[in-house]
Amino acid sequence: MTCSIFSDYKIENLTLENRIVMAPMTRGFADNETGEVNQLIADYYGKRARYGAGLIITEGIAISELAKGTYGIPGIFTHQQTLRWEKVTREVHQYKTKIFAQLWHVGRLSHQEILKGHPPVAPSAIGASGHVHRLRKPFQAPKSLSQSEIYQIIDDYRQAARNAMETGFDGIEIHAAHGYLIDQFISEKSNIREDKFGGSIQNRLRFLELIIKEVKKVVPKNRISIRVSEKKDDDGDYVWEQPEEMVHAITEMLSKHRIKIIHPSVESYGNELKNDQRSLHELFRKYWDETLIAVGNIVPHKAIAIVEENQADLVAFGKLFISNPDLVIRLKANQEILPFHTKEQLKCLN
Ligand SMILES: Cc1cc2nc3c(=O)[nH]c(=O)nc-3n(C[C@H](O)[C@H](O)[C@H](O)COP(=O)(O)O)c2cc1C
Repeated sequence: MTCSIFSDYKIENLTLENRIVMAPMTRGFADNETGEVNQLIADYYGKRARYGAGLIITEGIAISELAKGTYGIPGIFTHQQTLRWEKVTREVHQYKTKIFAQLWHVGRLSHQEILKGHPPVAPSAIGASGHVHRLRKPFQAPKSLSQSEIYQIIDDYRQAARNAMETGFDGIEIHAAHGYLIDQFISEKSNIREDKFGGSIQNRLRFLELIIKEVKKVVPKNRISIRVSEKKDDDGDYVWEQPEEMVHAITEMLSKHRIKIIHPSVESYGNELKNDQRSLHELFRKYWDETLIAVGNIVPHKAIAIVEENQADLVAFGKLFISNPDLVIRLKANQEILPFHTKEQLKCLN
Protein backbone atom coordinates (compact mmCIF):
# COMPACT_ATOMS: atom_id res chain seq x y z
CA MET A 1 0.00 0.00 0.00
CA THR A 2 1.40 3.45 -0.84
CA CYS A 3 1.27 6.14 1.83
CA SER A 4 0.36 9.76 1.35
CA ILE A 5 1.84 12.80 3.09
CA PHE A 6 -1.71 13.47 4.27
CA SER A 7 -2.18 10.11 5.94
CA ASP A 8 -1.63 9.72 9.65
CA TYR A 9 1.58 8.28 11.07
CA LYS A 10 2.25 6.44 14.29
CA ILE A 11 5.46 6.24 16.26
CA GLU A 12 4.31 3.78 18.90
CA ASN A 13 1.79 5.74 21.03
CA LEU A 14 2.47 9.06 19.28
CA THR A 15 0.07 9.70 16.40
CA LEU A 16 0.67 12.46 13.88
CA GLU A 17 -2.33 13.58 11.84
CA ASN A 18 -0.19 13.74 8.70
CA ARG A 19 3.44 13.40 7.58
CA ILE A 20 4.10 17.14 7.29
CA VAL A 21 6.60 18.61 9.75
CA MET A 22 7.52 22.22 10.42
CA ALA A 23 11.35 22.23 10.55
CA PRO A 24 13.09 23.92 13.50
CA MET A 25 13.79 27.58 12.77
CA THR A 26 15.47 30.11 15.04
CA ARG A 27 13.52 33.35 14.90
CA GLY A 28 15.04 35.42 17.73
CA PHE A 29 11.82 36.85 19.17
CA ALA A 30 12.20 35.68 22.78
CA ASP A 31 13.09 38.18 25.51
CA ASN A 32 16.87 38.51 25.26
CA GLU A 33 17.40 39.05 28.99
CA THR A 34 15.14 36.36 30.37
CA GLY A 35 14.94 33.89 27.47
CA GLU A 36 11.16 33.79 27.91
CA VAL A 37 8.72 33.30 25.03
CA ASN A 38 5.63 35.47 24.62
CA GLN A 39 2.12 35.44 23.16
CA LEU A 40 3.42 36.47 19.71
CA ILE A 41 5.49 33.29 19.58
CA ALA A 42 2.55 31.19 20.80
CA ASP A 43 0.38 32.70 18.05
CA TYR A 44 3.05 31.99 15.41
CA TYR A 45 3.21 28.28 16.24
CA GLY A 46 -0.54 28.14 16.92
CA LYS A 47 -1.30 29.41 13.43
CA ARG A 48 0.75 26.59 11.78
CA ALA A 49 -1.09 24.10 14.01
CA ARG A 50 -4.51 25.56 13.17
CA TYR A 51 -3.75 25.06 9.48
CA GLY A 52 -2.89 21.43 10.05
CA ALA A 53 0.87 20.82 10.51
CA GLY A 54 1.33 17.21 11.66
CA LEU A 55 4.38 17.96 13.83
CA ILE A 56 6.08 21.21 14.75
CA ILE A 57 9.70 21.16 15.85
CA THR A 58 10.44 24.42 17.63
CA GLU A 59 13.32 26.76 17.03
CA GLY A 60 16.51 25.80 18.91
CA ILE A 61 15.97 26.34 22.66
CA ALA A 62 18.94 27.01 24.96
CA ILE A 63 19.47 24.35 27.63
CA SER A 64 21.56 26.65 29.83
CA GLU A 65 22.95 30.17 30.07
CA LEU A 66 26.09 29.12 28.12
CA ALA A 67 24.11 27.50 25.30
CA LYS A 68 23.11 30.70 23.45
CA GLY A 69 24.66 31.82 20.17
CA THR A 70 22.73 34.96 19.32
CA TYR A 71 20.08 37.39 20.55
CA GLY A 72 16.46 36.59 21.35
CA ILE A 73 17.00 32.87 21.88
CA PRO A 74 14.43 31.23 24.15
CA GLY A 75 15.56 29.06 27.02
CA ILE A 76 14.04 26.13 28.89
CA PHE A 77 16.28 25.99 31.95
CA THR A 78 14.61 28.43 34.39
CA HIS A 79 11.23 27.90 36.03
CA GLN A 80 9.80 31.01 34.41
CA GLN A 81 11.04 30.09 30.90
CA THR A 82 9.51 26.66 31.30
CA LEU A 83 6.16 28.07 32.46
CA ARG A 84 6.06 30.44 29.49
CA TRP A 85 6.40 27.58 27.00
CA GLU A 86 3.06 26.31 28.25
CA LYS A 87 1.41 29.16 26.31
CA VAL A 88 2.89 27.64 23.14
CA THR A 89 2.08 23.99 23.83
CA ARG A 90 -1.47 24.88 24.90
CA GLU A 91 -2.04 26.96 21.78
CA VAL A 92 -0.76 24.18 19.49
CA HIS A 93 -2.70 21.45 21.30
CA GLN A 94 -6.02 23.19 20.64
CA TYR A 95 -5.62 21.55 17.25
CA LYS A 96 -4.37 18.02 16.64
CA THR A 97 -0.76 19.06 16.01
CA LYS A 98 2.11 17.62 18.04
CA ILE A 99 5.07 19.76 19.09
CA PHE A 100 8.67 18.84 19.96
CA ALA A 101 11.14 21.20 21.67
CA GLN A 102 14.51 21.39 19.93
CA LEU A 103 17.21 21.39 22.63
CA TRP A 104 20.27 23.40 21.67
CA HIS A 105 23.76 24.24 22.91
CA VAL A 106 25.93 26.22 20.49
CA GLY A 107 29.29 25.48 22.15
CA ARG A 108 32.04 27.52 20.53
CA LEU A 109 29.75 29.35 18.07
CA SER A 110 29.25 32.24 20.47
CA HIS A 111 30.86 35.10 22.35
CA GLN A 112 31.07 36.38 25.93
CA GLU A 113 28.90 39.34 24.96
CA ILE A 114 26.07 36.88 24.29
CA LEU A 115 26.98 34.71 27.30
CA LYS A 116 26.82 37.32 30.08
CA GLY A 117 30.61 37.56 30.27
CA HIS A 118 31.45 33.84 30.14
CA PRO A 119 33.69 32.47 27.38
CA PRO A 120 32.13 29.88 25.03
CA VAL A 121 32.91 26.22 25.68
CA ALA A 122 33.88 23.38 23.33
CA PRO A 123 35.42 19.89 23.35
CA SER A 124 38.82 21.43 22.51
CA ALA A 125 40.19 24.97 22.65
CA ILE A 126 39.98 25.46 18.89
CA GLY A 127 38.33 28.63 17.60
CA ALA A 128 35.69 28.54 14.88
CA SER A 129 36.06 30.77 11.85
CA GLY A 130 33.27 33.19 11.08
CA HIS A 131 31.17 35.71 12.90
CA VAL A 132 28.57 35.59 15.63
CA HIS A 133 25.08 36.03 14.24
CA ARG A 134 23.82 39.63 14.74
CA LEU A 135 26.74 40.54 17.08
CA ARG A 136 28.98 40.53 13.98
CA LYS A 137 32.16 39.86 15.98
CA PRO A 138 34.39 36.84 15.27
CA PHE A 139 33.52 33.68 17.19
CA GLN A 140 35.48 33.84 20.43
CA ALA A 141 38.16 31.22 21.16
CA PRO A 142 36.44 28.63 23.37
CA LYS A 143 37.48 27.12 26.66
CA SER A 144 37.99 23.35 26.51
CA LEU A 145 35.54 21.46 28.73
CA SER A 146 36.76 19.37 31.67
CA GLN A 147 35.07 16.01 32.15
CA SER A 148 33.08 17.28 35.12
CA GLU A 149 31.83 20.21 33.01
CA ILE A 150 30.84 17.74 30.28
CA TYR A 151 28.79 15.76 32.80
CA GLN A 152 27.19 19.01 34.01
CA ILE A 153 26.04 19.78 30.45
CA ILE A 154 24.66 16.25 30.09
CA ASP A 155 22.65 16.91 33.27
CA ASP A 156 21.48 20.22 31.81
CA TYR A 157 20.10 18.35 28.78
CA ARG A 158 18.18 15.99 31.08
CA GLN A 159 16.77 18.89 33.09
CA ALA A 160 15.79 20.81 29.93
CA ALA A 161 14.10 17.68 28.55
CA ARG A 162 12.24 17.18 31.83
CA ASN A 163 11.11 20.82 31.76
CA ALA A 164 9.93 20.38 28.16
CA MET A 165 7.78 17.37 29.04
CA GLU A 166 6.40 19.09 32.15
CA THR A 167 5.34 22.13 30.15
CA GLY A 168 3.39 20.08 27.64
CA PHE A 169 5.70 19.25 24.75
CA ASP A 170 4.99 15.91 23.08
CA GLY A 171 8.68 15.16 22.73
CA ILE A 172 12.09 16.68 22.11
CA GLU A 173 14.65 16.92 19.34
CA ILE A 174 18.34 16.91 20.26
CA HIS A 175 20.19 19.32 17.97
CA ALA A 176 23.36 17.39 17.17
CA ALA A 177 23.84 19.05 13.76
CA HIS A 178 25.24 22.13 12.02
CA GLY A 179 28.52 22.42 13.92
CA TYR A 180 27.01 23.22 17.34
CA LEU A 181 28.27 21.74 20.61
CA ILE A 182 27.29 18.08 20.12
CA ASP A 183 28.49 18.22 16.52
CA GLN A 184 31.74 19.84 17.73
CA PHE A 185 32.30 16.61 19.67
CA ILE A 186 31.40 14.48 16.62
CA SER A 187 33.71 16.33 14.21
CA GLU A 188 37.39 15.32 14.17
CA LYS A 189 38.25 18.93 13.27
CA SER A 190 36.86 20.53 16.43
CA ASN A 191 37.49 17.59 18.78
CA ILE A 192 41.12 16.63 19.39
CA ARG A 193 40.53 15.31 22.91
CA GLU A 194 42.60 12.41 24.09
CA ASP A 195 40.14 11.10 26.67
CA LYS A 196 37.06 8.90 26.14
CA PHE A 197 35.25 11.79 24.38
CA GLY A 198 37.81 12.05 21.54
CA GLY A 199 39.56 9.84 18.99
CA SER A 200 37.45 7.11 17.36
CA ILE A 201 33.99 7.86 15.93
CA GLN A 202 32.47 5.91 18.82
CA ASN A 203 34.33 8.11 21.33
CA ARG A 204 33.32 11.28 19.50
CA LEU A 205 29.70 10.12 19.60
CA ARG A 206 29.94 9.41 23.34
CA PHE A 207 28.78 12.89 24.40
CA LEU A 208 25.60 12.49 22.30
CA GLU A 209 25.20 8.95 23.57
CA LEU A 210 25.40 10.00 27.23
CA ILE A 211 22.91 12.82 26.59
CA ILE A 212 20.52 10.31 25.03
CA LYS A 213 20.91 7.97 28.00
CA GLU A 214 20.04 10.78 30.43
CA VAL A 215 17.22 12.25 28.38
CA LYS A 216 15.61 8.82 28.06
CA LYS A 217 15.07 8.90 31.83
CA VAL A 218 12.54 11.70 31.35
CA VAL A 219 11.28 11.38 27.75
CA PRO A 220 9.86 8.17 26.21
CA LYS A 221 12.20 6.85 23.52
CA ASN A 222 9.59 7.19 20.73
CA ARG A 223 9.43 10.92 21.45
CA ILE A 224 13.12 11.73 20.97
CA SER A 225 14.33 12.91 17.56
CA ILE A 226 18.02 13.27 16.78
CA ARG A 227 19.13 15.87 14.25
CA VAL A 228 22.53 15.33 12.63
CA SER A 229 24.29 16.77 9.58
CA GLU A 230 27.45 16.74 7.59
CA LYS A 231 27.02 20.50 7.09
CA LYS A 232 28.62 22.84 9.65
CA ASP A 233 27.40 26.43 9.95
CA ASP A 234 30.95 27.69 10.56
CA ASP A 235 32.69 25.67 7.82
CA GLY A 236 30.91 25.58 4.47
CA ASP A 237 33.51 23.26 2.92
CA TYR A 238 33.41 20.59 5.60
CA VAL A 239 32.47 17.08 4.42
CA TRP A 240 32.65 13.63 5.94
CA GLU A 241 35.62 11.68 4.54
CA GLN A 242 33.66 8.44 4.82
CA PRO A 243 29.96 9.23 4.92
CA GLU A 244 28.81 5.62 5.02
CA GLU A 245 31.02 4.89 8.00
CA MET A 246 29.61 7.95 9.83
CA VAL A 247 26.00 7.08 9.06
CA HIS A 248 26.59 3.49 10.10
CA ALA A 249 28.20 4.54 13.41
CA ILE A 250 25.41 7.03 14.18
CA THR A 251 22.57 4.62 13.38
CA GLU A 252 24.25 1.80 15.26
CA MET A 253 24.50 3.93 18.40
CA LEU A 254 20.93 5.23 18.08
CA SER A 255 19.56 1.71 17.49
CA LYS A 256 21.37 0.49 20.58
CA HIS A 257 19.41 3.04 22.59
CA ARG A 258 16.13 2.22 20.78
CA ILE A 259 15.80 5.75 19.43
CA LYS A 260 12.99 5.98 16.85
CA ILE A 261 13.44 9.23 14.94
CA ILE A 262 16.35 10.61 12.90
CA HIS A 263 16.23 14.00 11.23
CA PRO A 264 19.30 14.36 8.97
CA SER A 265 19.73 17.95 7.85
CA VAL A 266 20.79 18.98 4.34
CA GLU A 267 20.25 22.16 2.38
CA SER A 268 19.00 20.37 -0.73
CA TYR A 269 17.29 17.04 -0.27
CA GLY A 270 18.52 14.31 -2.62
CA ASN A 271 21.85 15.89 -3.58
CA GLU A 272 24.74 13.46 -3.84
CA LEU A 273 27.30 13.73 -1.06
CA LYS A 274 30.77 14.83 -2.09
CA ASN A 275 32.35 11.56 -0.93
CA ASP A 276 29.58 9.15 -1.86
CA GLN A 277 27.34 8.70 -4.87
CA ARG A 278 24.27 8.62 -2.68
CA SER A 279 22.45 11.38 -0.82
CA LEU A 280 22.54 11.65 2.96
CA HIS A 281 18.94 10.45 3.24
CA GLU A 282 19.61 7.47 0.96
CA LEU A 283 22.47 6.46 3.21
CA PHE A 284 20.36 6.82 6.34
CA ARG A 285 17.52 4.82 4.80
CA LYS A 286 19.97 2.00 4.11
CA TYR A 287 20.73 1.67 7.83
CA TRP A 288 17.54 2.99 9.41
CA ASP A 289 14.11 1.32 9.34
CA GLU A 290 12.60 3.57 11.96
CA THR A 291 11.25 7.08 11.37
CA LEU A 292 13.32 9.17 8.97
CA ILE A 293 12.55 12.85 8.34
CA ALA A 294 13.33 14.34 4.92
CA VAL A 295 14.18 18.05 4.68
CA GLY A 296 16.01 20.56 2.49
CA ASN A 297 14.36 22.79 -0.09
CA ILE A 298 11.64 20.26 -0.81
CA VAL A 299 8.93 21.28 -3.30
CA PRO A 300 5.38 19.86 -3.08
CA HIS A 301 5.54 17.20 -5.83
CA LYS A 302 8.84 15.97 -4.41
CA ALA A 303 7.34 15.71 -0.91
CA ILE A 304 4.56 13.52 -2.23
CA ALA A 305 7.04 11.22 -4.01
CA ILE A 306 9.33 10.99 -0.95
CA VAL A 307 6.55 9.51 1.16
CA GLU A 308 4.96 7.41 -1.61
CA GLU A 309 8.31 5.86 -2.49
CA ASN A 310 9.26 5.35 1.18
CA GLN A 311 12.42 7.42 0.79
CA ALA A 312 11.48 8.89 4.18
CA ASP A 313 8.49 8.71 6.52
CA LEU A 314 7.95 12.40 7.26
CA VAL A 315 8.73 15.52 5.24
CA ALA A 316 9.84 18.74 6.90
CA PHE A 317 9.50 22.20 5.42
CA GLY A 318 11.31 25.21 6.86
CA LYS A 319 11.20 28.43 4.88
CA LEU A 320 7.93 27.57 3.15
CA PHE A 321 6.27 27.35 6.56
CA ILE A 322 7.38 30.94 7.20
CA SER A 323 5.97 32.24 3.94
CA ASN A 324 2.87 29.99 4.08
CA PRO A 325 1.46 29.49 7.60
CA ASP A 326 -1.33 27.57 5.82
CA LEU A 327 1.13 25.38 3.91
CA VAL A 328 -0.75 22.15 4.64
CA ILE A 329 -4.04 23.57 3.30
CA ARG A 330 -2.26 24.78 0.16
CA LEU A 331 -0.60 21.42 -0.37
CA LYS A 332 -3.91 19.59 0.05
CA ALA A 333 -5.74 21.89 -2.34
CA ASN A 334 -2.84 21.94 -4.78
CA GLN A 335 -2.80 25.73 -4.48
CA GLU A 336 0.06 28.11 -5.21
CA ILE A 337 2.83 28.04 -2.57
CA LEU A 338 4.15 31.52 -1.81
CA PRO A 339 7.92 31.91 -2.14
CA PHE A 340 10.07 32.80 0.85
CA HIS A 341 11.64 36.27 0.81
CA THR A 342 14.42 36.23 3.38
CA LYS A 343 14.75 39.84 4.37
CA GLU A 344 11.16 40.90 4.89
CA GLN A 345 9.89 37.64 6.28
CA LEU A 346 12.56 37.15 8.93
CA LYS A 347 11.97 40.61 10.40
CA CYS A 348 8.55 39.79 11.72
CA LEU A 349 6.79 36.85 13.24
CA ASN A 350 3.41 36.12 11.74
C1 LIG B 1 15.54 31.24 9.55
C2 LIG B 1 16.02 29.84 9.76
C3 LIG B 1 16.36 29.41 11.04
C4 LIG B 1 16.80 28.09 11.26
N1 LIG B 1 17.06 27.68 12.54
C5 LIG B 1 17.31 26.37 12.80
C6 LIG B 1 17.38 25.88 14.13
O1 LIG B 1 17.16 26.60 15.12
N2 LIG B 1 17.66 24.57 14.30
C7 LIG B 1 17.89 23.72 13.25
O2 LIG B 1 18.15 22.54 13.45
N3 LIG B 1 17.80 24.17 11.97
C8 LIG B 1 17.49 25.45 11.72
N4 LIG B 1 17.31 25.87 10.42
C9 LIG B 1 17.37 24.90 9.30
C10 LIG B 1 15.95 24.38 8.96
O3 LIG B 1 15.46 23.56 10.01
C11 LIG B 1 15.92 23.55 7.66
O4 LIG B 1 16.71 22.40 7.81
C12 LIG B 1 16.42 24.35 6.45
O5 LIG B 1 15.81 25.62 6.40
C13 LIG B 1 16.15 23.60 5.14
O6 LIG B 1 14.77 23.39 4.95
P1 LIG B 1 13.92 24.36 3.95
O7 LIG B 1 14.67 24.44 2.65
O8 LIG B 1 12.58 23.68 3.81
O9 LIG B 1 13.83 25.70 4.60
C14 LIG B 1 16.91 27.19 10.17
C15 LIG B 1 16.59 27.64 8.90
C16 LIG B 1 16.13 28.92 8.67
C17 LIG B 1 15.75 29.36 7.28
